[in-house]
Order: sequence, then structure tokens, then C-alpha cells
Amino acid sequence: MIIVLIGYMGSGKSTVGKELSKKLNFSFLDLDNYIENKYNSSVSDIFDNQGEIYFRKIESECVREICEKGENLVFSLGGGTPCYGNTMTYLLNSSVISVYLRGSISTIFKRLLIDKNKRPLISNIDENNLKEFIAKHLFERSKFYNKANHIVDIDSFTTKQLVDRLKLLTKPM
Ligand code: S3P
Repeated sequence: MIIVLIGYMGSGKSTVGKELSKKLNFSFLDLDNYIENKYNSSVSDIFDNQGEIYFRKIESECVREICEKGENLVFSLGGGTPCYGNTMTYLLNSSVISVYLRGSISTIFKRLLIDKNKRPLISNIDENNLKEFIAKHLFERSKFYNKANHIVDIDSFTTKQLVDRLKLLTKPM
């Protein structure tokens, strides 16, 4: 079984995913880390040197590569992964369980303000314009995210509460 976590930057895909994998005794994989190891380059460097279109191409290839293995895995995608290259359709047609970790604009804004410099898509956006950027971007992306098999609200829940909820949701019948 593969549980795929999707959601905007800062929604806790990696933090929640790591803890969930421990609880389920599954492996954990973060797509950005997988790409960084495979291409021996940071995501920011790939964006700077080869551009976003190249990054989108390799991330969609890597999703397929990983999902084909079919092992017990919690797999956190990047924020944009389901929104490019038919990846959301691919996930829905495969046997993975997808979960959208849905955060409100203000929760995401608060979290991203803290480490926005590490994220190539928002590092150049002025703090005063960040909330509006997130609002528009999240609106565009929601139509992909909302197709997930399950939607879990993250606002006002701790990692532990989210892990417990996900564990129940993804439990085989
Ligand atoms: C991106 C999100 C990032 C990373 C890249 C692009 C996006 O992953 O893949 O910077 O398009 O939202 P996280 O969601 O893990 O920060």
C-alpha cells in the first residue's frame, strides 16, 4: 500500500508523513529529497540552473517510478506535483491512497513566512505580497488537490492528531 500526501507548501506533508510511516511501520519517502539524491542537486539549484519546466518533468517521472514499486510506503509529494503532467489523474487511476492535507490561507501564510527563503517559488516574493500570492496560487491548485481520495483539514490540529486521523482513514477494510 502507498499513501500519498499532497498539499500546498507548508501543509506538513513531510512532518506528518514521517510520523505516520513510523506508526504504520511503512517506509517514508519525500519526493523533494528523492529528487535531490537522484540528481545530486538541491531543488533550488535545479530551479535556478535547469528551470521550473525541467523540474516539473523530473518530478512527474519520479512519482511514477516510485508508485510502480508498490511497497508499503508513505510518500510526500511536493506542493506542485499533483498540478502538472497529469500526475493527479495518474494517482487516481493507480492503487495509491491520496490524502490532501488542507490548510487555510492564514495557516499556510504563517508557516511559510518563517522559512520562505528555502522555497524557490516564493523566495523572491515580498512579505507584504505573500498572503495574496498564496491565496491565488492555492485557489488555482485546489482543483487538483480536491480530487484526492481523502481531504484532511490541518488547521488547529497537532501532528499527532493528524497522524491518528490518517491512520484511521487509510486503514485497510
Ligand atoms: C513546490 C513545492 C516544494 C518543491 C518545490 C516546488 C511547489 O515542495 O517541490 O519548491 O510548486 O509548491 P514542498 O511542498 O515540500 O515545500
